Amino acid sequence: MFYIRLLSALLCFWGTFVNAVYRDEAFNVDWQLSTIGDYRCTISDYAKENQLIILSDYSEIETLVTYINETNGNVLLRYTVPFKMSDAMLVPDSHQLILNVVGDSTKKYVSIDLDTGLILDDASNDLVQASDFSFESTCVANDYKILNKDGKPRLKVTDKTMGLPIFDIELPESFTDINYLSTDYSQNLQFIVGNGDSQFTYFNYTEGGKNLTNSWVRDESLVDIVDSTFFDLKDPSIDTIRKELTEERDIDDVITAYVFRVKNNFNRIRNYLKQHQYSPGRVITSFLKENELMGNINEEKAYKRDLDFGLAKLLIVVTKNGRMAALHVSQQGKIIWNFNTGLQNIVSINYTPLTDELVVINEKGSFVVFTSINEHIPPTLKNEGSFNLTTSSIITKTKKLDDEHNCFFVSLENGENQIVSVDNMQPLNNASYFLTNHNSKEINGYILSEGNKLVDTWRITLNTNEKIVAFASRTEDPVVNVGNVLGNRTVLYKYLYPNLVSYATINEEDRSLYINLIDTITGELLHSQKHTNEKVDINSPVNLVFGENWYVYSYLSAEPIPEQRITVVELYDSLESNVKKSDPNMQYSPLKGNINKPEVISKSYYFPEIIQDLELSSTKFSITSKAIIIKLANDQITFVPKFVLNARSKEEANMSDDDKKEFMASPYMSSIPINDNFIISHQRELIMGDDSKLVSSATNLESTTIVCEIGNDVFCSRIYPSGQFDVMSPSFEKFQLFGTIFIVIVIVYYLHPTVANKKLKILWMIKD
Ligand SMILES: *[C@@H]1O[C@H](CO)[C@@H](O)[C@H](O)[C@H]1NC(C)=O
Ligand SMILES: *[C@@H]1O[C@H](CO)[C@@H](O)[C@H](O)[C@H]1NC(C)=O
Ligand SMILES: *[C@@H]1O[C@H](CO)[C@@H](O)[C@H](O)[C@H]1NC(C)=O
Ligand SMILES: *[C@@H]1O[C@H](CO)[C@@H](O)[C@H](O)[C@H]1NC(C)=O
Ligand SMILES: *[C@@H]1O[C@H](CO)[C@@H](O)[C@H](O)[C@H]1NC(C)=O
Ligand SMILES: *[C@@H]1O[C@H](CO)[C@@H](O)[C@H](O)[C@H]1NC(C)=O
Ligand SMILES: *[C@@H]1O[C@H](CO)[C@@H](O)[C@H](O)[C@H]1NC(C)=O
Repeated sequence: MFYIRLLSALLCFWGTFVNAVYRDEAFNVDWQLSTIGDYRCTISDYAKENQLIILSDYSEIETLVTYINETNGNVLLRYTVPFKMSDAMLVPDSHQLILNVVGDSTKKYVSIDLDTGLILDDASNDLVQASDFSFESTCVANDYKILNKDGKPRLKVTDKTMGLPIFDIELPESFTDINYLSTDYSQNLQFIVGNGDSQFTYFNYTEGGKNLTNSWVRDESLVDIVDSTFFDLKDPSIDTIRKELTEERDIDDVITAYVFRVKNNFNRIRNYLKQHQYSPGRVITSFLKENELMGNINEEKAYKRDLDFGLAKLLIVVTKNGRMAALHVSQQGKIIWNFNTGLQNIVSINYTPLTDELVVINEKGSFVVFTSINEHIPPTLKNEGSFNLTTSSIITKTKKLDDEHNCFFVSLENGENQIVSVDNMQPLNNASYFLTNHNSKEINGYILSEGNKLVDTWRITLNTNEKIVAFASRTEDPVVNVGNVLGNRTVLYKYLYPNLVSYATINEEDRSLYINLIDTITGELLHSQKHTNEKVDINSPVNLVFGENWYVYSYLSAEPIPEQRITVVELYDSLESNVKKSDPNMQYSPLKGNINKPEVISKSYYFPEIIQDLELSSTKFSITSKAIIIKLANDQITFVPKFVLNARSKEEANMSDDDKKEFMASPYMSSIPINDNFIISHQRELIMGDDSKLVSSATNLESTTIVCEIGNDVFCSRIYPSGQFDVMSPSFEKFQLFGTIFIVIVIVYYLHPTVANKKLKILWMIKD
């Protein structure tokens, strides 16, 4: 372990500042939910013992091939093949799988080598003709009957030749169909049943159906996740203290309140002592144990620590067809509850901590509101209904406006926008709502006026061959630092005007890329950056994220050289240090529209892999350097701390001594290296799809951010963009620390009288 760390520290120029994924953390703090989807075909792989091959529809044009461990239902391997299939069969001698392809005019059959997952050319057609298999007999289980006896479904399997009954097994009541059945027609029977709700149960019966030796369930309902939200779990043990504090606050008289507090604390001490049977020895041991000075921490304690550190969260997801489920983030993604909301074509889910309400909205404008979210039972339905949409269009996007009334700004497919509310209320603070909305052709600014009416304020319309490919508004995180302190102790002031949006447009004709920065109140263009001398690959994604006073974008350049670029743009009040142009006391009025324009510097970097998506990490107080979380085109996830992408960095030769003194200053390197330890998905095989989303959630530890990627699979992990500065390392020697403090106290206790004595003697001028 030590050598790996040493090596990576040497290899990676920021290695000393940042902790990334090491072997002792991989598979430990991160987890993955691997969904297969509805089983279209299940085949027993007779070349490998106890292995099932499951085929399922992945996207419109792809099939997912999954190898499952028949003993416990765990996924062994998955890959996609770019064909949609209607049937499949296994060729035993060569260990190949032949798919009957649909919707492809050039191919009727495709064969896959099951050992490598590679698609073999041509061979399949000959094989199909030569073999005696018929497709119908492989994917569809047959030779069985389902009978109902006393209202309960039973599975009957009879002998092929004689028609004698062999197995007669009672099925679960939720049974809807048999997905797989394999039997030796004498003693053993294995089958999988579906319940019509994407839950699949496997049974292995021996001894002629008398002994159920194995059974497992796979829940495949969390496929097609459209939106998600985080819910912070709270430690119930501080509830009593919280209650006491509110009670105390409600007491008007100071003295009564004081007596109330003293009484409570006294009771607490008395109970503590009583618990330890008034024995000082027990109190000390329990104190040492509680502070992890002795013995190992148990599971319960570890969970309490997760609660205190805000690592215990629920990731609440909704699927397109209306399922809502909670995954426990700190317990390996365990599904806590999973139920049907009753809505179809869900668009979004929003959680409001203030009212503890969860609002799920579908595209027709119907909503359900749930309350009392917890980690034990599903939330309770509080309210349901429909928004009063003025047109019969469908909702494509929702944005929550305020926390008290569950008001939403919704965008409709026909280009209109509307303000809707769950309880027909106005959002609070109506005067200050400036809203911005965009589609691929235009950006609109609105102001919210009385009666929830939206009034157009400005509009930017693009030329015919241009389109918007990325859009990001400035984050609303708190500002910690108004400037960057330079090496010579002067300050470079940041441009902190909050109402900013940046967007990227591509001209499809000459394949040039523009990145613009606008003021969302006036629509004024504040800065524009072009990449006209290079041609951009218009089919690959352009991504944009906007932090405090900077934005970062990535694009794939096609000409002159095909390469992935990532560029940072930083906005400053003034590029001269110690100069502040904007007046902090000025009341900003949209009518004046004469705010200072930012002064801008920008730097571009090469990135060694193709970037699919970008997202910013969020931390509680925004003190930690932000990390740019990057999803690569090969379904892996990595991150780059913001200080690595520094627009003011210079080449080593041009750095003055003062420049080197600046915090986190590093010389400019045109290419950003990817160290293996920064791949947070490490060896995991994630199958995400193009629409997957990166999300990030803050914890109570400022250093730590939870990062999840939500697509076909769900993957979550933790990152520490500036290292774990607020967590003691496990090897931290607390016992020595406490011991030293104790010894120092003892010494001071004995030294103090000696010193006092000496002082007294000096006063009286007595010599020792
Ligand atoms: C399948 O699961 C069983 C039980 O957990 C385990 O013993 C076996 O090694 C697994 N097989 C494979 C191929 O992983
Ligand atoms: C079914 O269970 C029996 C008894 O435990 C075991 O020997 C056999 O391998 C199992 N069959 C399959 C296909 O897992
Ligand atoms: C069922 O099969 C298992 C494994 O083959 C065996 O250990 C167990 O004793 C059997 N149970 C009964 C009731 O026969
Ligand atoms: C819905 O909106 C229309 C037009 O704004 C209005 O006439 C109608 O009363 C509203 N219905 C409800 C239930 O609010
Ligand atoms: C919001 O609008 C209502 C009436 O439409 C008005 O009475 C109220 O003063 C406004 N609130 C603010 C904060 O401007
Ligand atoms: C401090 O350093 C900055 C940038 O290196 C430079 O622009 C500025 O003039 C310096 N200020 C003083 C007082 O030396
Ligand atoms: C140093 O800066 C000068 C002027 O800004 C520039 O011309 C030169 O190329 C830079 N040298 C290096 C090594 O970057």
